[in-house]
Amino acid sequence: MTEIIKIIITAVWLMMPAYISNPMAVVFGGGMPIDLGKNWTDGKRILGDGKTFRGLFAGTVCGIIAGLIQMKATPLLSLGTFTLTAIITLSFGALLGDMIKSFFKRRMGFERGGKMPLLDQLDFVAGAWILTYLFDKQWFSENFSFEIMIIVLILTPVLHRLTNIMGYHLKLKKEPW
Ligand code: CTP
Ligand code: MG
Repeated sequence: MTEIIKIIITAVWLMMPAYISNPMAVVFGGGMPIDLGKNWTDGKRILGDGKTFRGLFAGTVCGIIAGLIQMKATPLLSLGTFTLTAIITLSFGALLGDMIKSFFKRRMGFERGGKMPLLDQLDFVAGAWILTYLFDKQWFSENFSFEIMIIVLILTPVLHRLTNIMGYHLKLKKEPW
């Protein structure tokens, strides 16, 4: 296996809990919004109807399940090993990042679903990384090398765009981004 392919596979493998939790929030989302429909001091919604308890919970659970399966599979594949903490922080952190982005989107006057290139695609990567770094610094620094991080930053917008186009056509999302 050439070095670059190995780095790409490792990058996707390490990001998998986050790559699962983010789209699963879209699949299972709906119902009560996390901001309970309330407005911020600027008169605009705190987060908006696009961030729901069900999406947050179901997305996190799906990401954790994916990570647990990966934990079991690791000895067979000789790819990066996970810690339980990392699985949780990657899954939950991804959706936390997405929520924080929505908060700032609303403050900037963007309606729910408004398009913010790059932020819409890397919000969850930032959330997953920061939360994982905070809770399992050792695992993070052992696994996310500089090369892996660069590959994730390049690859994620591409994967994100593809899944969102798919989600749009499956009528899971209102916009193809
Ligand atoms: N979703 C959810 N709960 C979350 C995240 C996402 O229910 N915590 C669902 C919502 O149905 C949302 C859809 O997934 O509309 C798409 O997610 P996203 O693109 O992140 O939200 P937007 O609706 O585009 O809202 P925003 O402008 O705040 O990003
Ligand atoms: Mg969106």
